[in-house]
Amino acid sequence: MDNEFVVNYVEETKSIAEELTSILKNNIVFLTGEIGAGKTTFTKYFVQACGLYDEVYSPTFSIENRYETKNGVIIHFDLYRMQEEVELDMIGFYDTLKEEATILIEWADKFNIEKYIKNYKIVNFKVNGDGSRTITIK
Ligand SMILES: Nc1ncnc2c1ncn2[C@@H]1O[C@H](COP(=O)(O)OP(=O)(O)O)[C@@H](O)[C@H]1O
Ligand SMILES: [Mg+2]
Repeated sequence: MDNEFVVNYVEETKSIAEELTSILKNNIVFLTGEIGAGKTTFTKYFVQACGLYDEVYSPTFSIENRYETKNGVIIHFDLYRMQEEVELDMIGFYDTLKEEATILIEWADKFNIEKYIKNYKIVNFKVNGDGSRTITIK
């Protein structure tokens, strides 16, 4: 599959999330892009596409959400509210990264966490002038 898509509607984001379920399975995935770009929307569709047993919530207040799906465990972090890198240790972030799970991390680029992770993928969301989104997978 190509690694760059321009999407105009959330339904298209849904199709991309569905296509990526096997590629991203059991990977650490950095979801990057400005606020409102579509990171949480993508996560919701991704969890649903993996066969949801549970309700999807935005983790903005809880920092970490966890889902048991037919496609394995999915852990969703949103680091937006984290102030300092030391807080990541306090919530057990680095231990969680060792789990066998698909780990989706919003605002991963806010901290220098690349130094703890050897292999990760990036799904970047860019808002274009016309409101469409360019989604890039690296
Ligand atoms: N591909 C898209 N096209 C148009 N609107 C989108 C798209 N993806 C998300 N949106 C809309 O943008 C808003 C913010 O999305 P959200 O996923 O919460 O952003 P983020 O988590 O990056 O801050 C939502 O109202 C959502 O419906
Ligand atoms: Mg979000």
